[in-house]
Amino acid sequence: MIRVGVIGYGYWGPNIVRNLHGLDSTRVEMVCDTSAGALARVRKAYPNIRTVSDPDEILRSPDIDAVAVITPVWTHYELAKRALENGKHVFVEKPFTSNSSQGKELTDLAARKRLTIMVDHTFLFTGAVRKIHELTQSGALGDLYYYDSLRVNLGLFQHDVSVIWDLAPHDLSIMDYIINSDPEAVVATGEKHLNGVEDVAFMTIYFPRNVIAHINVNWLSPVKIRTTLIGGQKKMLVWNDLVADEKIRLYDKGVQISSGEGIRDLLVSYRTGDMWAPRVEQLEALHVELGYFAECIMNNKTPFNDGHAGLRVVQMLEAAETSIKKRGEVVRL
Ligand SMILES: NC(=O)c1ccc[n+]([C@@H]2O[C@H](COP(=O)([O-])OP(=O)(O)OC[C@H]3O[C@@H](n4cnc5c(N)ncnc54)[C@H](O)[C@@H]3O)[C@@H](O)[C@H]2O)c1
Repeated sequence: MIRVGVIGYGYWGPNIVRNLHGLDSTRVEMVCDTSAGALARVRKAYPNIRTVSDPDEILRSPDIDAVAVITPVWTHYELAKRALENGKHVFVEKPFTSNSSQGKELTDLAARKRLTIMVDHTFLFTGAVRKIHELTQSGALGDLYYYDSLRVNLGLFQHDVSVIWDLAPHDLSIMDYIINSDPEAVVATGEKHLNGVEDVAFMTIYFPRNVIAHINVNWLSPVKIRTTLIGGQKKMLVWNDLVADEKIRLYDKGVQISSGEGIRDLLVSYRTGDMWAPRVEQLEALHVELGYFAECIMNNKTPFNDGHAGLRVVQMLEAAETSIKKRGEVVRL
């Protein structure tokens, strides 16, 4: 049984506490928040969980094995660092840290202390992404050509981070997982319209072997869209995360080009075969992810969404930020 202290009970924290509470392998011992209102909500929902307003009560407690950091991005580094220094395993929200030097320091510290860090890249535990991973790794799509994602809606405006740091980590962590090779360069553009941080942004990421990814993130969209296209040499898929059924549609479509008799003759053939909607698991992603966190700690296993995965995402976010400042200059990684 892993005894967990949760720091941060705002918008996302209640989902973490509810899922940890529902698992047999974890027990929430304490919840910390600096807001009295948040702690009152904890006590109402879970009368047996101790509530504290000082994170040190969790970070220094001998009764805590692991700390979940569910606070704003700028607080992640300090809280996670103190947790590791006190010998606690860490589950920390995305994006992992505010910059890559902080991320590197935390991964090094965790390695030195032989402690687990898991970064909450929740999407990697959804039935849809697990299915896409299975399809790409088995070779069903053939060589990958592109990943193209539209992740737009009206708000929720964050006051401390831009739309890139808020929404793009989802796609960057998914790409990191399914493309499975280090990006070469990033180009990004974006604009600020309301409160001094970018609210509309476009990001292109170049990977080896001509794989290209594009992400459109926007807090000023009149409609919510969560649609991703993934194209491969053999098959292509469309993932619409907002529908209940047929979230993933796999198309047996493709293009083949060969040269004809004359040197300038190109023979283009289009393949338009069947469409197929694979079954997608319906389990709640956080339930699967937090169960995996406990399993990694108990079996001394390194999670695939560890600090290094979190750091790779932060490095792409930093590169995007640099590129935006230079109005779309190529930033090499
Ligand atoms: N994985 C996901 O899909 C997902 C979804 C939403 C948010 N998040 C992430 O979760 C984190 C929190 O986001 P949110 O939307 O819940 O923010 P929020 O502002 O709603 O909640 C943060 C809570 O942390 C508390 N807090 C802040 N600093 C603290 C400190 N030093 N000690 C104790 N309590 C402190 C605040 O009082 C607040 O209640 C962010 O990193 C965000 O990116 C992840």
